Amino acid sequence: MTWGPLDWDEWTARWAGEPPLPSPEERALLEFLEALPGRRRMTVADLGCGAGRLLPFLSRRFERVVAVDYAPASLAVARRVCVGREVVFRRRDLRDLSPFRNSFDAAIAVGSIVGPRPEDADRILAQIFASLVEGGVLAATFPARRGSTRPVPLRLAGGGPAPRLLRFHEVELQYRMRRAGFRGLRIRRFTGVEPSRAALLCIASRRADN
Ligand SMILES: C[S@@+](CC[C@H](N)C(=O)[O-])C[C@H]1O[C@@H](n2cnc3c(N)ncnc32)[C@H](O)[C@@H]1O
Repeated sequence: MTWGPLDWDEWTARWAGEPPLPSPEERALLEFLEALPGRRRMTVADLGCGAGRLLPFLSRRFERVVAVDYAPASLAVARRVCVGREVVFRRRDLRDLSPFRNSFDAAIAVGSIVGPRPEDADRILAQIFASLVEGGVLAATFPARRGSTRPVPLRLAGGGPAPRLLRFHEVELQYRMRRAGFRGLRIRRFTGVEPSRAALLCIASRRADN
């Protein structure tokens, strides 16, 4: 399975009526946003917003919220969650965020940079980088690959879609983030109640090297 928009809609439907509670890494991400200086005057984007679980939180704290996802039914649920709130919705593939160049002061991507191929993750990261204003920040969570003391195999490009959703090791994620242009990286691992729930929280910014 290559996880296209309709697969994600099925995934969303499975959680209908009972959206997952924020996990420890999501709580850490929300705390980071809460403490962001000047956030009341900022535009924030929820990239891969799914059913919009985090949109009410964002709309209470930021001046402007843009919610992007390519899964139509998930976006419809997100719109319902946000009735009466000032949220702009866009149905778009994160691999092409060209209409949003230099638009966001902050962006979050919660479990949405997951493939299907490693080069898609690279493309999404580069697009997010370009969608941020200079000095803008990205806070993103990623499924984690098991920690290892051995060399980490790194697939750069080529080959078919990964057989399952991509998972990342700290070393690989750091490499991919820096290659997309991000600086000021902070990566924290959350072990999760079971190995399949292990996650990385990555905070990074767009700022010039000087
Ligand atoms: C694991 S779900 C997380 C949803 C939401 N962020 C949350 O935490 O509830 C991943 C979401 O990312 C979206 N997504 C994955 N790849 C995408 C892409 N290339 N373009 C747009 N959305 C994408 C899926 O449609 C899905 O809604």
